[in-house]
Amino acid sequence: MTITEERTAGRTAPLLEVADLRVEFRTRDGVAKAVNGVGYTVDAGETLAVLGESGSGKSVTAQAVMGILDSPPGYVTGGRILFQGRDLLTMSAEQRRRVRGAKMAMIFQDALSSLNPVLSVGAQLGEMFQVHRGMSRKQARTKAVELMERVRIPAAKERVGDYPHQFSGGMRQRIMIAMALALEPELIIADEPTTALDVTVQAQVMDLLAELRREYDMGLILITHDLGVVADVADKIAVMYAGRIVETAPVHELYKRPAHPYTRGLLDSIPRVDLKGQELYAIRGLPPNLTAIPSGCAFHPRCPRARDVCRTDDPPLHPVTEDDGTRIPGRASACHFWRDELHAR
Ligand SMILES: Nc1ncnc2c1ncn2[C@@H]1O[C@H](COP(=O)(O)OP(=O)(O)OP(=O)(O)O)[C@@H](O)[C@H]1O
Ligand code: SF4
Ligand SMILES: [Mg+2]
Repeated sequence: MTITEERTAGRTAPLLEVADLRVEFRTRDGVAKAVNGVGYTVDAGETLAVLGESGSGKSVTAQAVMGILDSPPGYVTGGRILFQGRDLLTMSAEQRRRVRGAKMAMIFQDALSSLNPVLSVGAQLGEMFQVHRGMSRKQARTKAVELMERVRIPAAKERVGDYPHQFSGGMRQRIMIAMALALEPELIIADEPTTALDVTVQAQVMDLLAELRREYDMGLILITHDLGVVADVADKIAVMYAGRIVETAPVHELYKRPAHPYTRGLLDSIPRVDLKGQELYAIRGLPPNLTAIPSGCAFHPRCPRARDVCRTDDPPLHPVTEDDGTRIPGRASACHFWRDELHAR
Protein backbone atom coordinates (compact mmCIF):
# COMPACT_ATOMS: atom_id res chain seq x y z
CA MET A 1 0.00 0.00 0.00
CA THR A 2 1.33 3.50 -0.83
CA ILE A 3 1.48 6.19 1.80
CA THR A 4 -1.36 8.06 0.16
CA GLU A 5 -3.50 4.95 0.09
CA GLU A 6 -2.66 4.28 3.70
CA ARG A 7 -3.60 7.82 4.72
CA THR A 8 -6.82 7.65 2.78
CA ALA A 9 -7.58 4.27 4.27
CA GLY A 10 -6.82 5.54 7.77
CA ARG A 11 -9.10 8.52 7.33
CA THR A 12 -12.11 6.94 5.77
CA ALA A 13 -12.01 3.27 6.73
CA PRO A 14 -13.72 1.90 9.81
CA LEU A 15 -11.45 0.39 12.45
CA LEU A 16 -12.50 -3.08 11.34
CA GLU A 17 -14.36 -4.08 8.23
CA VAL A 18 -15.20 -7.71 7.62
CA ALA A 19 -16.63 -8.42 4.16
CA ASP A 20 -18.08 -11.61 2.73
CA LEU A 21 -16.03 -13.76 5.10
CA ARG A 22 -16.21 -17.51 4.54
CA VAL A 23 -14.84 -20.23 6.79
CA GLU A 24 -15.22 -23.97 6.49
CA PHE A 25 -14.09 -26.94 8.54
CA ARG A 26 -12.96 -29.95 6.57
CA THR A 27 -13.63 -32.96 8.74
CA ARG A 28 -14.18 -36.68 8.23
CA ASP A 29 -17.93 -36.07 8.53
CA GLY A 30 -17.88 -33.59 5.66
CA VAL A 31 -17.34 -29.91 5.11
CA ALA A 32 -19.00 -27.77 7.78
CA LYS A 33 -19.75 -24.33 6.36
CA ALA A 34 -19.38 -22.41 9.59
CA VAL A 35 -19.20 -18.85 8.19
CA ASN A 36 -20.98 -18.09 4.92
CA GLY A 37 -20.46 -14.52 3.78
CA VAL A 38 -20.37 -12.53 7.01
CA GLY A 39 -19.81 -8.77 6.90
CA TYR A 40 -19.76 -6.10 9.55
CA THR A 41 -17.92 -2.94 10.57
CA VAL A 42 -16.73 -1.65 13.91
CA ASP A 43 -15.55 1.91 14.46
CA ALA A 44 -13.27 3.20 17.18
CA GLY A 45 -15.31 3.67 20.34
CA GLU A 46 -18.14 1.53 19.02
CA THR A 47 -19.56 -1.69 20.45
CA LEU A 48 -20.97 -4.33 18.14
CA ALA A 49 -22.83 -7.20 19.77
CA VAL A 50 -22.92 -10.48 17.85
CA LEU A 51 -25.87 -12.58 18.83
CA GLY A 52 -27.07 -16.04 17.89
CA GLU A 53 -27.67 -19.56 19.12
CA SER A 54 -24.91 -22.04 19.78
CA GLY A 55 -23.15 -23.09 16.58
CA SER A 56 -24.16 -20.06 14.54
CA GLY A 57 -20.54 -19.13 13.80
CA LYS A 58 -19.99 -16.29 16.26
CA SER A 59 -16.72 -17.58 17.69
CA VAL A 60 -15.36 -18.88 14.39
CA THR A 61 -15.86 -15.43 12.82
CA ALA A 62 -13.98 -13.87 15.74
CA GLN A 63 -11.19 -16.45 15.50
CA ALA A 64 -10.79 -15.69 11.81
CA VAL A 65 -10.53 -11.97 12.58
CA MET A 66 -7.95 -12.59 15.30
CA GLY A 67 -6.06 -15.05 13.11
CA ILE A 68 -6.35 -17.85 15.67
CA LEU A 69 -8.56 -20.21 13.69
CA ASP A 70 -7.99 -23.89 14.43
CA SER A 71 -6.39 -24.81 11.09
CA PRO A 72 -6.59 -27.55 10.02
CA PRO A 73 -9.49 -28.34 10.06
CA GLY A 74 -10.64 -24.70 9.68
CA TYR A 75 -9.91 -22.62 6.56
CA VAL A 76 -10.81 -19.09 5.51
CA THR A 77 -12.09 -19.66 1.97
CA GLY A 78 -13.08 -16.14 1.03
CA GLY A 79 -13.64 -12.55 1.98
CA ARG A 80 -11.68 -9.66 3.44
CA ILE A 81 -10.79 -8.58 6.96
CA LEU A 82 -9.70 -4.96 6.81
CA PHE A 83 -8.12 -3.56 9.94
CA GLN A 84 -7.55 0.19 9.61
CA GLY A 85 -7.98 -0.31 5.90
CA ARG A 86 -5.40 -3.11 5.53
CA ASP A 87 -6.42 -6.64 4.70
CA LEU A 88 -5.24 -9.02 7.42
CA LEU A 89 -5.79 -11.99 5.12
CA THR A 90 -3.15 -10.87 2.63
CA MET A 91 -0.52 -9.93 5.23
CA SER A 92 2.51 -12.06 5.96
CA ALA A 93 2.32 -14.18 9.09
CA GLU A 94 4.84 -11.88 10.76
CA GLN A 95 2.92 -8.67 9.94
CA ARG A 96 -0.24 -10.24 11.17
CA ARG A 97 1.34 -11.33 14.44
CA ARG A 98 2.44 -7.78 15.02
CA VAL A 99 -1.05 -6.37 14.47
CA ARG A 100 -2.56 -9.05 16.69
CA GLY A 101 -0.04 -8.50 19.47
CA ALA A 102 -0.29 -4.75 19.64
CA LYS A 103 -3.62 -3.68 18.25
CA MET A 104 -6.16 -6.41 18.87
CA ALA A 105 -6.91 -8.48 21.94
CA MET A 106 -9.41 -11.14 22.84
CA ILE A 107 -11.19 -12.02 26.06
CA PHE A 108 -12.56 -15.53 26.49
CA GLN A 109 -15.31 -17.00 28.59
CA ASP A 110 -13.14 -19.21 30.71
CA ALA A 111 -10.41 -17.23 32.48
CA LEU A 112 -9.20 -20.23 34.45
CA SER A 113 -8.19 -22.16 31.36
CA SER A 114 -6.87 -19.06 29.55
CA LEU A 115 -4.55 -18.01 32.38
CA ASN A 116 -1.43 -19.96 33.29
CA PRO A 117 -2.15 -21.82 36.57
CA VAL A 118 1.48 -21.97 37.71
CA LEU A 119 2.35 -18.31 37.21
CA SER A 120 1.21 -15.51 39.50
CA VAL A 121 -1.15 -13.01 37.87
CA GLY A 122 1.48 -10.33 38.40
CA ALA A 123 4.02 -12.36 36.46
CA GLN A 124 1.54 -12.96 33.62
CA LEU A 125 0.52 -9.33 33.38
CA GLY A 126 4.12 -8.23 33.76
CA GLU A 127 5.27 -10.53 30.99
CA MET A 128 3.26 -8.48 28.50
CA PHE A 129 5.33 -5.40 29.35
CA GLN A 130 8.63 -7.26 29.48
CA VAL A 131 8.12 -8.98 26.13
CA HIS A 132 6.38 -6.23 24.18
CA ARG A 133 7.68 -3.08 25.86
CA GLY A 134 11.12 -4.21 26.94
CA MET A 135 10.55 -3.25 30.57
CA SER A 136 12.54 -4.58 33.48
CA ARG A 137 10.89 -7.06 35.87
CA LYS A 138 10.43 -4.38 38.47
CA GLN A 139 8.89 -1.87 36.06
CA ALA A 140 6.64 -4.59 34.68
CA ARG A 141 5.42 -5.49 38.16
CA THR A 142 4.53 -1.87 38.85
CA LYS A 143 2.56 -1.80 35.59
CA ALA A 144 0.82 -5.05 36.58
CA VAL A 145 -0.35 -3.53 39.85
CA GLU A 146 -1.54 -0.42 37.99
CA LEU A 147 -3.55 -2.56 35.61
CA MET A 148 -5.05 -4.60 38.43
CA GLU A 149 -6.13 -1.36 40.07
CA ARG A 150 -7.46 -0.15 36.76
CA VAL A 151 -9.82 -3.14 36.57
CA ARG A 152 -10.64 -2.60 40.27
CA ILE A 153 -9.15 -5.64 41.89
CA PRO A 154 -9.15 -4.81 45.61
CA ALA A 155 -5.76 -4.80 47.37
CA ALA A 156 -3.93 -5.12 44.05
CA LYS A 157 -0.50 -4.52 45.59
CA GLU A 158 -0.95 -7.36 48.06
CA ARG A 159 -2.50 -9.72 45.53
CA VAL A 160 -0.13 -9.25 42.61
CA GLY A 161 1.78 -12.40 43.64
CA ASP A 162 -1.35 -14.57 43.91
CA TYR A 163 -2.16 -17.36 41.46
CA PRO A 164 -5.27 -17.47 39.23
CA HIS A 165 -7.05 -20.11 41.36
CA GLN A 166 -6.83 -17.82 44.39
CA PHE A 167 -9.21 -15.35 42.75
CA SER A 168 -12.99 -15.58 42.38
CA GLY A 169 -14.48 -16.10 38.91
CA GLY A 170 -15.39 -12.42 38.60
CA MET A 171 -11.92 -11.27 39.68
CA ARG A 172 -10.29 -13.71 37.26
CA GLN A 173 -12.37 -12.25 34.47
CA ARG A 174 -11.11 -8.80 35.48
CA ILE A 175 -7.57 -10.12 35.24
CA MET A 176 -8.33 -11.35 31.69
CA ILE A 177 -9.61 -7.88 30.87
CA ALA A 178 -6.43 -6.39 32.33
CA MET A 179 -4.33 -8.73 30.14
CA ALA A 180 -6.30 -7.66 27.09
CA LEU A 181 -5.87 -3.98 27.94
CA ALA A 182 -2.18 -4.15 28.74
CA LEU A 183 -0.90 -3.02 25.36
CA GLU A 184 -3.80 -0.60 24.84
CA PRO A 185 -5.28 -2.33 21.80
CA GLU A 186 -7.58 -0.55 19.40
CA LEU A 187 -9.97 -3.49 19.14
CA ILE A 188 -11.12 -5.98 21.76
CA ILE A 189 -13.15 -9.05 20.96
CA ALA A 190 -14.92 -10.46 24.01
CA ASP A 191 -16.35 -13.93 23.42
CA GLU A 192 -19.05 -14.63 26.01
CA PRO A 193 -16.95 -12.83 28.62
CA THR A 194 -19.46 -13.15 31.46
CA THR A 195 -21.32 -16.39 30.71
CA ALA A 196 -19.63 -18.35 33.49
CA LEU A 197 -20.40 -15.72 36.13
CA ASP A 198 -23.47 -15.18 38.26
CA VAL A 199 -25.83 -12.41 37.28
CA THR A 200 -24.65 -9.66 39.63
CA VAL A 201 -21.00 -10.21 38.80
CA GLN A 202 -21.91 -10.39 35.10
CA ALA A 203 -23.33 -6.88 35.27
CA GLN A 204 -20.27 -5.52 37.08
CA VAL A 205 -17.83 -7.02 34.61
CA MET A 206 -19.91 -5.82 31.67
CA ASP A 207 -20.07 -2.29 33.12
CA LEU A 208 -16.32 -2.30 33.58
CA LEU A 209 -15.79 -3.40 30.00
CA ALA A 210 -18.10 -0.68 28.70
CA GLU A 211 -16.36 1.95 30.80
CA LEU A 212 -12.90 0.93 29.62
CA ARG A 213 -14.06 0.85 26.03
CA ARG A 214 -15.20 4.47 26.38
CA GLU A 215 -12.08 5.57 28.18
CA TYR A 216 -9.65 3.99 25.72
CA ASP A 217 -11.87 4.75 22.71
CA MET A 218 -11.55 1.14 21.54
CA GLY A 219 -13.75 -0.82 19.21
CA LEU A 220 -15.46 -3.70 21.02
CA ILE A 221 -17.04 -6.83 19.60
CA LEU A 222 -19.17 -8.49 22.21
CA ILE A 223 -20.21 -12.05 21.43
CA THR A 224 -23.13 -13.38 23.41
CA HIS A 225 -26.30 -15.38 23.22
CA ASP A 226 -27.85 -13.31 25.98
CA LEU A 227 -29.91 -10.40 24.69
CA GLY A 228 -30.26 -9.06 28.23
CA VAL A 229 -26.53 -8.45 28.48
CA VAL A 230 -26.19 -6.30 25.37
CA ALA A 231 -29.03 -3.82 25.71
CA ASP A 232 -27.09 -1.36 27.86
CA VAL A 233 -23.61 -1.71 26.42
CA ALA A 234 -23.90 -2.25 22.66
CA ASP A 235 -24.42 0.36 19.97
CA LYS A 236 -25.50 -2.11 17.31
CA ILE A 237 -26.28 -5.77 16.92
CA ALA A 238 -25.60 -8.39 14.27
CA VAL A 239 -27.76 -11.50 14.59
CA MET A 240 -26.20 -14.68 13.21
CA TYR A 241 -27.84 -17.86 12.02
CA ALA A 242 -26.10 -20.80 10.32
CA GLY A 243 -22.98 -18.81 9.59
CA ARG A 244 -24.78 -15.78 8.17
CA ILE A 245 -25.81 -12.41 9.47
CA VAL A 246 -29.57 -12.39 9.20
CA GLU A 247 -30.24 -9.00 10.75
CA THR A 248 -28.31 -5.88 11.72
CA ALA A 249 -29.69 -2.91 13.59
CA PRO A 250 -28.87 -0.23 16.15
CA VAL A 251 -29.53 -1.89 19.49
CA HIS A 252 -32.73 -0.08 20.49
CA GLU A 253 -34.25 -0.41 17.04
CA LEU A 254 -33.76 -4.16 17.17
CA TYR A 255 -35.59 -4.51 20.48
CA LYS A 256 -38.40 -2.23 19.41
CA ARG A 257 -39.14 -3.78 16.06
CA PRO A 258 -37.16 -6.72 14.77
CA ALA A 259 -37.23 -7.26 11.00
CA HIS A 260 -36.44 -10.98 10.99
CA PRO A 261 -38.48 -13.86 12.44
CA TYR A 262 -35.36 -15.39 13.99
CA THR A 263 -34.59 -12.18 15.89
CA ARG A 264 -38.16 -12.08 17.15
CA GLY A 265 -37.78 -15.68 18.29
CA LEU A 266 -34.67 -14.75 20.26
CA LEU A 267 -36.43 -11.75 21.77
CA ASP A 268 -39.35 -13.92 22.79
CA SER A 269 -37.26 -16.63 24.41
CA ILE A 270 -37.85 -16.89 28.10
CA PRO A 271 -35.05 -17.33 30.59
CA ARG A 272 -36.01 -20.24 32.86
CA VAL A 273 -34.90 -20.03 36.47
CA ASP A 274 -35.89 -23.65 37.12
CA LEU A 275 -33.55 -24.91 34.38
CA LYS A 276 -30.35 -23.40 35.69
CA GLY A 277 -28.24 -21.87 32.96
CA GLN A 278 -30.65 -22.85 30.21
CA GLU A 279 -33.13 -20.90 28.22
CA LEU A 280 -36.38 -21.95 26.68
CA TYR A 281 -36.35 -20.73 23.13
CA ALA A 282 -39.58 -19.62 21.64
CA ILE A 283 -38.11 -20.97 18.41
CA ARG A 284 -39.04 -24.54 17.65
CA GLY A 285 -36.48 -27.08 16.49
CA LEU A 286 -32.70 -26.86 16.43
CA PRO A 287 -30.09 -24.96 14.42
CA PRO A 288 -29.09 -26.83 11.24
CA ASN A 289 -26.18 -29.19 10.75
CA LEU A 290 -23.60 -27.02 8.99
CA THR A 291 -22.56 -29.84 6.66
CA ALA A 292 -26.12 -29.79 5.24
CA ILE A 293 -27.55 -26.29 5.49
CA PRO A 294 -31.19 -26.19 4.31
CA SER A 295 -31.93 -24.83 0.82
CA GLY A 296 -33.32 -21.34 0.32
CA CYS A 297 -33.53 -19.52 3.63
CA ALA A 298 -31.58 -21.65 6.12
CA PHE A 299 -34.11 -20.77 8.82
CA HIS A 300 -37.15 -22.05 6.88
CA PRO A 301 -37.61 -25.39 8.70
CA ARG A 302 -38.05 -23.49 11.98
CA CYS A 303 -39.73 -20.31 10.76
CA PRO A 304 -43.36 -19.59 11.65
CA ARG A 305 -43.57 -17.27 8.66
CA ALA A 306 -42.07 -19.59 6.02
CA ARG A 307 -43.76 -19.90 2.61
CA ASP A 308 -42.86 -21.83 -0.54
CA VAL A 309 -40.40 -19.22 -1.80
CA CYS A 310 -38.40 -19.60 1.43
CA ARG A 311 -37.54 -23.19 0.57
CA THR A 312 -36.06 -22.27 -2.80
CA ASP A 313 -34.80 -18.67 -2.69
CA ASP A 314 -32.00 -17.59 -0.41
CA PRO A 315 -32.89 -14.09 0.83
CA PRO A 316 -29.97 -11.63 0.60
CA LEU A 317 -29.26 -9.22 3.44
CA HIS A 318 -30.97 -6.10 2.19
CA PRO A 319 -31.64 -2.66 3.64
CA VAL A 320 -34.67 -2.18 5.84
CA THR A 321 -36.69 0.89 4.90
CA GLU A 322 -39.67 2.78 6.24
CA ASP A 323 -42.89 2.48 4.23
CA ASP A 324 -42.05 5.67 2.32
CA GLY A 325 -38.80 4.07 1.17
CA THR A 326 -36.37 5.95 3.43
CA ARG A 327 -33.53 3.77 4.60
CA ILE A 328 -33.24 3.15 8.30
CA PRO A 329 -29.54 3.70 9.09
CA GLY A 330 -27.68 0.53 10.00
CA ARG A 331 -30.65 -1.73 9.43
CA ALA A 332 -30.71 -4.78 7.18
CA SER A 333 -32.56 -8.10 7.15
CA ALA A 334 -32.18 -11.36 5.26
CA CYS A 335 -35.85 -12.28 5.10
CA HIS A 336 -38.17 -12.22 2.12
CA PHE A 337 -40.89 -10.92 4.41
CA TRP A 338 -38.96 -8.46 6.54
CA ARG A 339 -41.61 -5.79 6.06
CA ASP A 340 -44.33 -8.04 7.51
CA GLU A 341 -42.09 -8.80 10.46
CA LEU A 342 -41.25 -5.12 10.97
CA HIS A 343 -44.95 -4.32 11.26
CA ALA A 344 -45.92 -7.37 13.30
CA ARG A 345 -46.44 -6.95 17.00
N1 LIG B 1 -12.41 -26.94 15.69
C1 LIG B 1 -13.48 -27.21 14.94
N2 LIG B 1 -13.54 -28.32 14.18
C2 LIG B 1 -14.61 -28.61 13.41
N3 LIG B 1 -15.69 -27.81 13.32
C3 LIG B 1 -15.70 -26.69 14.05
C4 LIG B 1 -14.61 -26.32 14.90
N4 LIG B 1 -14.90 -25.14 15.49
C5 LIG B 1 -16.12 -24.80 15.03
N5 LIG B 1 -16.61 -25.71 14.17
C6 LIG B 1 -17.88 -25.65 13.44
O1 LIG B 1 -18.29 -24.31 13.37
C7 LIG B 1 -19.59 -24.15 13.91
C8 LIG B 1 -19.74 -22.81 14.53
O2 LIG B 1 -18.98 -22.78 15.71
P1 LIG B 1 -18.85 -21.49 16.62
O3 LIG B 1 -17.89 -21.88 17.70
O4 LIG B 1 -18.51 -20.30 15.83
O5 LIG B 1 -20.30 -21.31 17.22
P2 LIG B 1 -20.82 -20.19 18.20
O6 LIG B 1 -21.83 -19.38 17.48
O7 LIG B 1 -19.66 -19.47 18.78
O8 LIG B 1 -21.57 -21.05 19.31
P3 LIG B 1 -21.54 -20.98 20.91
O9 LIG B 1 -22.64 -20.03 21.29
O10 LIG B 1 -21.84 -22.37 21.34
O11 LIG B 1 -20.19 -20.53 21.35
C9 LIG B 1 -19.75 -25.34 14.85
O12 LIG B 1 -21.09 -25.69 15.00
C10 LIG B 1 -18.97 -26.41 14.13
O13 LIG B 1 -19.77 -27.00 13.13
S1 SF4 C 1 -37.13 -15.83 4.38
FE1 SF4 C 1 -38.92 -17.08 4.88
S2 SF4 C 1 -38.12 -18.75 6.16
FE2 SF4 C 1 -36.56 -17.16 6.08
S3 SF4 C 1 -36.94 -15.95 7.87
FE3 SF4 C 1 -38.05 -14.98 6.22
S4 SF4 C 1 -40.09 -15.84 6.28
FE4 SF4 C 1 -38.78 -17.15 7.54
MG1 LIG D 1 -18.80 -19.43 20.65
